[in-house]
Amino acid sequence: MKPEERVIVALDLEREEDFKRVLREISPYAKIVKIGPVALLGIGFKTVEMTKEYGLEIFLDLKHMDIPNTVALSAKGIAKIGVKMFTLHCLGGREMIKSAKEELSAFKSPPLIIGVTLLTSWDKETISSFGIPSMELLFETLIQIGIEGGVDGFVCSPVEARRIKTLAPDKVCITPGIRLSSEKDDQKRTGSPEEAIESGADYIVVGRPIIKSPEPAQAFLQIIERVKSCK
Ligand code: C5P
Repeated sequence: MKPEERVIVALDLEREEDFKRVLREISPYAKIVKIGPVALLGIGFKTVEMTKEYGLEIFLDLKHMDIPNTVALSAKGIAKIGVKMFTLHCLGGREMIKSAKEELSAFKSPPLIIGVTLLTSWDKETISSFGIPSMELLFETLIQIGIEGGVDGFVCSPVEARRIKTLAPDKVCITPGIRLSSEKDDQKRTGSPEEAIESGADYIVVGRPIIKSPEPAQAFLQIIERVKSCK
């Protein structure tokens, strides 16, 4: 895979003019953008159409978690839109994931199902507030549920990318929580682009370090250079 295909830009922008500007500036270089509730609810479905007009692929990140029937019908809707991949929560359970997978079997080139494991904004305190003794235990359980349900890949923090490649070596690994410096925003388990890629991430997701930059294209290209330098 080319380095520019491995850096997914999270377009978490609420205003159409900002979305258009960043999309326009990165479009000569970027290949995949992540669209989630911030842009979809703030701007609307036209974010998907605009992205397609620029020839970029879409990672639809709505992190589905609901009863199996609802998630299966949502997966069908997503396949009709024609996106590269979409997320659901492994926490939703194996039946939920299986029902989405079955629904997608009717499509010739269905989107990849990406299972969200632990959110990168969670830390040990968050996990213990759920009454779960360890982060590692929850992580491994979610991976197992994802494998049994039939996901094509996982989202995890750069800290866990290596574990994914051990527990599920044939699955795609996508890591958000990428930071270029010690700046963390609300993210807790972060890593640099190099740490994520060298730990086995196939794709890294970068939002604010690119979209809040005064020069998003430059910020994207700097990350590409760092990805290129990885072993
Ligand atoms: O701005 P930033 O680079 O932190 O954006 C990260 C993106 O990845 C956000 O859109 C966030 O919703 C998403 N994400 C995450 N942690 C996960 C799954 C998705 O940060 N586990």
